[in-house]
Amino acid sequence: MTTATTGPAAVKGAVGTAHTRVEGRDKVTGAARYAGEIPFADLAHGWLALSTVARGRVRSLDTDAVLGMPGVLAVLHHGNAPRVDTDYVGMLGIPPDPTAAVFQDDRVPHVGWPVALVVAETPEQAREAAEALVVTYDEEPHDTVLTADHPGAYPADGHMPAETEKGDLAASLAASAVVVDEEYTTPEEHHSMMEPHAATALWDGGRLEVIDSNQGATWVQTELAKMFSLDESAVRVRSEHIGGGFGSKGLRAHQVSAVMAATVLQRPVRVVMTRRQMFSLAGHRSPTVQRVRLGADADGRLRALEHRSLNQTSTVYEFVEPGAGVARVMYDADAHRTANHVVRLDVPSPTFMRAPGEAPGSFAIESALDELAERCGVDPIELRLRNEPEAGPVSGLPFSSRNLAACFREGARRFGWAERDPRPGIRRDGRWLLGTGTAAASFGAGAGPSTALLTAEADGTFTVRISAADLGTGARTALTLVAADALEVTPERVRVRIGDSDFGPAMIAGGSMGTRSWAWAITEAARELRERLALGPAVPPEGITVRSDTTEALGALAQKERHSYGAQFAEVAVDTATGEVRVRRMLGIFAAGRIVNPLTARNQLVGGMIWGISMALHEEAVRDRATGGLYAPDLAGYHVATHADVGDVDADWVDDHDPDDPVGIKGVGEIGIVGAAAAVANAVRHATGVRHRSLPIRPDRVL
Ligand code: MOS
Repeated sequence: MTTATTGPAAVKGAVGTAHTRVEGRDKVTGAARYAGEIPFADLAHGWLALSTVARGRVRSLDTDAVLGMPGVLAVLHHGNAPRVDTDYVGMLGIPPDPTAAVFQDDRVPHVGWPVALVVAETPEQAREAAEALVVTYDEEPHDTVLTADHPGAYPADGHMPAETEKGDLAASLAASAVVVDEEYTTPEEHHSMMEPHAATALWDGGRLEVIDSNQGATWVQTELAKMFSLDESAVRVRSEHIGGGFGSKGLRAHQVSAVMAATVLQRPVRVVMTRRQMFSLAGHRSPTVQRVRLGADADGRLRALEHRSLNQTSTVYEFVEPGAGVARVMYDADAHRTANHVVRLDVPSPTFMRAPGEAPGSFAIESALDELAERCGVDPIELRLRNEPEAGPVSGLPFSSRNLAACFREGARRFGWAERDPRPGIRRDGRWLLGTGTAAASFGAGAGPSTALLTAEADGTFTVRISAADLGTGARTALTLVAADALEVTPERVRVRIGDSDFGPAMIAGGSMGTRSWAWAITEAARELRERLALGPAVPPEGITVRSDTTEALGALAQKERHSYGAQFAEVAVDTATGEVRVRRMLGIFAAGRIVNPLTARNQLVGGMIWGISMALHEEAVRDRATGGLYAPDLAGYHVATHADVGDVDADWVDDHDPDDPVGIKGVGEIGIVGAAAAVANAVRHATGVRHRSLPIRPDRVL
């Protein structure tokens, strides 16, 4: 039995104090090895060959020609690759994206679909042969264009119901003194994290080992076991250091093709995605077309709210970017309707990307609220405070804690909001027009079942083993602090080992749930270990190990609306001659539960906000209708905010804790990006008097 009653007040010491990354020195000295650079004897290298057409079938592959090239060992394709099982539901409760189950048939559903893996002695030989491989196709007409009125659109659930509805929307809109009815669009966006996807697969005495870069070692382990019909104990996945994930690093083509090749060749095989390959194999954030209708009394109190969001998915997998979900948590109205629809296009499957749903959804709804505030003549913060709901607008559930108002008050004070003149287009600094904007943020604060192994070593130190993933977030360090407090020792006595599926099942680093879920398991294990140690026997040479499992504790959690909240503030300068928008200043104040490590938490929040600037002003993957592929799918063609684009960005927080969590944690992974683009767009409106409803706010759109 597990209980989770320790209030946050009982936990003191390490949690809440700034601590540099425990693996920081290893990372900056190069001692920390990433998946693509760990040496193996007899390692072969696979290079994926991707389709150049958007729809059709592979007619032929001229494998003979490349098999004679230097160093080439094998060419895997749909005609000779091992069969895999995709008829299962994985750890996250979703079936696998067939993009990962490579080489199962001759069908090509998008540009950049894997058609072959060329394996050679060196990466250069594999690349040369893969590029020389002649593939012919029977091409079919394709459709890669998402439009608001696409006839293929249909409601889709994803991880939430597709549609919600209460009240009479038409009647409430008709009875409203002020109505906003606008369309907002966001483009296709890509994570393109610093470290590309990389996996090495090998068979070791009947056991499959995969060294990978992923967001959950047991996630990938269980998926590979199901796909290759293996016992879970026959698969080990390790993922020690990760250079970014952002939702993209689950089961993908690189691991599956590496396992196939290692199986066929019976030697270790490594597959690394190139930067360009990531743009079709690593998933993306779907573009969205959103319609928001708001009806309010003259004082800004909402009577009607409708938020509809449309996204694209592939023809082989249904992924929902639930843009309309955020309205279900944030704002109530007598008539309340939300809908997430998808269209299947001949494009790669989209996937989770930092704050899936909330990031584009908050751009639309928080822009619409700004429009409503302006039309009502009510301050945008005051408008939001007037519309704070008592309970979940759709669920009717109580909030575990909702400190949005505190975020706005603290943010307004520090940002200097009180001095703001609401009139648009009147502040000048030379050739620049200046403006400020604000937006609200929320993101779910869930938890997933996890197991932890905790060992009291004979030398007085403690070792935590948990299949957590540190994507660069500082999770390893946060868990060290949590374990230290739970054990009532200093962090120096705690060693945290992560990223190994042999440590047992654990939540992924995703959904802003990682640190919280793992901390819970560690706290449970520490409680049990302290009880064991209190009984007095000396610690034997092999140590004393306990194992925790939070499945039961999480199952007993009361049903509540659990979310982190935030208030985003931006100040922009708009160059009236060039159309350039500069974000001079940005402040985010968050209520994100107990902050474990202020240093890395601030880093996470600021990182999300900077991504919001990037989303507002730069990011846009443009698809060529003719070929169905992207223009310039690389970091030269796909613009992200650089240092020079980022001004004074700060994040801070108000006191908050989840009352049902043993440490009080909620999560900081995603909330930083939510509302950030809307705050920038609202500031651009304030600066120029022009409302931008399509992202990114490029210079040509400003002019
Ligand atoms: Mo996140 S998009 O849940 O990795």
